[in-house]
Amino acid sequence: MSMYGRSRVKVPASTANLGPGFDTLGMALSLYAWIEMEESADTVFHLYGDEMAGVATDKSNLLYQVAQMVFAEAGVEIPELSITMYSEIPLTRGLGSSASAIVGGMAAANAMIGSPLSLAKLFDMATALEKHPDNVGASLFGGIITAVWDGEHADYIRIEPPRDLEVLVVIPQFELSTTKARGVLPLEITVGDAVHNISRTSLLTAAMAAGRLDLIGRAMQDRLHQPYRAPLVPGMEKLLAEATGHGALGIALSGAGPTLLCMVERNGSRKEELELFLKQTMEEHGIPARTCWLLPCTSGVVSELIETNQMQNGSFLDMIKGEKQL
Ligand code: HSE
Repeated sequence: MSMYGRSRVKVPASTANLGPGFDTLGMALSLYAWIEMEESADTVFHLYGDEMAGVATDKSNLLYQVAQMVFAEAGVEIPELSITMYSEIPLTRGLGSSASAIVGGMAAANAMIGSPLSLAKLFDMATALEKHPDNVGASLFGGIITAVWDGEHADYIRIEPPRDLEVLVVIPQFELSTTKARGVLPLEITVGDAVHNISRTSLLTAAMAAGRLDLIGRAMQDRLHQPYRAPLVPGMEKLLAEATGHGALGIALSGAGPTLLCMVERNGSRKEELELFLKQTMEEHGIPARTCWLLPCTSGVVSELIETNQMQNGSFLDMIKGEKQL
């Protein structure tokens, strides 16, 4: 019998940048992946959900790989794992699916062995893999995070999202890899554009902390990445220019895209108008897309350790039933 327990994790999706805060700001969203992990005689995977099609089911699997990094860091050896995952987070759409897998896999492995690694350590390890702290920080800590990565260590502050804030995302059916969306960015920018973004990122961070929803629209303007990425997402330019005229507080490309994300006042009166505008604009540009209302997720990754003899088969799927969004 294994000396380690079975761990179970629920990890949120995330949006990065929030417009001007490129590689800096992130926010957790109410879309989730669930993972169960335990020691096993052979490595086996049970992957559920449409988003899992095509995910590797051998030791090249990202969850397996990050689990082994955690074990190595903690000085334990568990070469064979049983990994179960259900995810409702769309892949390669700018909603942080890879960050959720990294954070979820690390949290599950850490919980299995009694949580010897701190969340701060997991944040450094996860950021080293992702290369930027915005998505992984949001999935780890929940809420809104502002973070700095020096190549080895990530510093961050977590901000409680304003209570009246809701999010509407429009998710195009096509995939856009982060590598491609980073490849179109310029290597140098002007001081004017740098000041434009520094000032708005600072204002947006302070506005979020102070609950000043009225400042979001002007603070979410960006000159660092969105103008260069707009040609990759048909309809994006129009959405960025006009969504606030249809009731959005602000709008940004979600992470590296192609999803676009509107900040919306929860009790606002123009929510239907905005949703229609997003759908029609995508249609006009010939892009199949779906919309989805989400909330900022205030908790980050949640993990628990379960004694193996307390579990019954099938309870993983029972657990997520009724919790799914999409
Ligand atoms: N900050 C990153 C980017 C997020 O915009 O490229 C995507 O992973």
